[in-house]
Amino acid sequence: MLTIKNQIAGAILQALPEGTDLAADAIVEMLEYPPDLNMGDLAFPCFKLSRALRKAPPAIAAMIGEKFTCPAVESASVAGGYLNFKLSKEHLVNDRLSAVLADPNFGGSDMGKGKMVVLDYSSPNICKPFHIGHLGTTVIGHSLKKLHEFVGYSCYGINYLGDWGTQFGKLITAYRLWGSEEEVTKGGIDYLVDIYVRFHREAEEDPTLNDRAREEFHKLELGDEENLALWRRFKEISLEEYERTYKQLDITFDSYLGESFYTDKMPAEVQKLRDKELLKIDDGASIVDLSEYNLPPCLILKRDGSTLYPTRDIAAAVYRKETYDFEKCIYVTSAQQSLHFAQWFKVVEMMQYPWYDQLVHIPYGTISVAGVKLSTRHGNMLLLRDVFAAAIEKVDSIMEEKNPDLKDRAETAEAVGVGAVVFHYLSSTRTKDISFILEDALSFEGNSGPYAQYTYARCCSILEKAGSAGKITGAAITDEEKELVKTLSQFPERVNLALREYEPSVITRYVLDLCAAFNRFYHNCQILNAKEEDVVSQRVAMVSATRQVLGKALELICLRHPEKI
Ligand code: ARG
Repeated sequence: MLTIKNQIAGAILQALPEGTDLAADAIVEMLEYPPDLNMGDLAFPCFKLSRALRKAPPAIAAMIGEKFTCPAVESASVAGGYLNFKLSKEHLVNDRLSAVLADPNFGGSDMGKGKMVVLDYSSPNICKPFHIGHLGTTVIGHSLKKLHEFVGYSCYGINYLGDWGTQFGKLITAYRLWGSEEEVTKGGIDYLVDIYVRFHREAEEDPTLNDRAREEFHKLELGDEENLALWRRFKEISLEEYERTYKQLDITFDSYLGESFYTDKMPAEVQKLRDKELLKIDDGASIVDLSEYNLPPCLILKRDGSTLYPTRDIAAAVYRKETYDFEKCIYVTSAQQSLHFAQWFKVVEMMQYPWYDQLVHIPYGTISVAGVKLSTRHGNMLLLRDVFAAAIEKVDSIMEEKNPDLKDRAETAEAVGVGAVVFHYLSSTRTKDISFILEDALSFEGNSGPYAQYTYARCCSILEKAGSAGKITGAAITDEEKELVKTLSQFPERVNLALREYEPSVITRYVLDLCAAFNRFYHNCQILNAKEEDVVSQRVAMVSATRQVLGKALELICLRHPEKI
């Protein structure tokens, strides 16, 4: 389906002298939205063509303007080196609005059809509660999954649990010394954290505890049944806790295969590294020298022969390629792990796996905590469940006042409260370091998640009152209606931009643009009370289209959209 930009690019190409070396796609990329609507709805800058056409940019703009015809454009005017286009209102309604209404999947495509994308995200280290730092990988990862699905990819979401390593020796030791099943059942993950912290405290006084922990982990590695049973129980307890958070976020995974799954898959990769003569012994440890690539060495085996984080990631990537035959395998983690990924991606390349360039690391900025400390119990660790609980409570108290009889109130408060936090987080550019301020996340004024969800509910309520989905009648439209339809028509290009840059915040910003356009329309145009019937019906159709696109956009950034708030 052709977007407005595609349509205009085609017409520009037609107007250019034959033989001009420019593709329609390149023109699409060059088209800009002028800062001021009075200049036009879209603009084509002619500066880059100056050399090839041996003409000054304004002359090129004039030349294109003279020949240019396109049903999407009412008029084209030259301003400096730009050709500015004013879009045709009739075309926007007859072509674009109808395109939205005709396709429930408007904005998506089948670009990725038949291709598999594996996404590794969230991936917490078990026995630790979910804190605010995990929000990034979880919602960015899930949003990228939704975006890829929306354009036709098959996606496989993996929660690569950090469920292996020496810390389990510590936890088993702590449990044997101080713990009981009764307390684990009662206290859940918090109890595990407590005894883990106690282990560290006491090990400072009594270092033999560390030896004992190493022994317990070693036994675990050798498959000791009792230790395995404890480890399984700890994992179960952790998952119960995580599942609660995932459920609030409405996030599910296709697999929870964590680090432990790859224990028996590492030796083959280590052997392969040896066979290819890529392993070097450095102070007893086995490493891959990456100095040629200006990277520190990648550690494969410790001195005692035990494996490391990169070793497991390499084995996991090989397994995933063999099992899912991905076109792309995306890893979403904090930028603090960028070096780790650069190193082992390089090792995979050196191992001559032909798919090395299908591995993609998507880093995000670190999240630090400022403002209110919610939990004294966990020091300054801000737990996601506490943040969500505070948000839900705030929403619920507002509802208590404004809409106490709402059906499904608890569910709605959860969708709006959790949504507020997620929306706030996904408003920032992914790579920016952010200082999380709870009051800001819970401020529902202005450009917030609740505002967007409320706009969605407003559409639903209008449609309910209208009792029909409306239709395109060809009635003349106002400037507000034009802006709304124009914004709706931009959804596909925003989706593509978000995908290209792996950037959910592109969608968050689009949601705000769409809400702004809709609310201007809502406040300035009578919808159900308009005088003429054909105007009412067409405006109702615009509300339908807004509900459809806004709902989809909210889903893409992991927000639910209740029909009533
Ligand atoms: N468990 C790790 C952590 O919490 C993140 C794992 C990311 N995924 C990966 N394949 N390394 O830091």
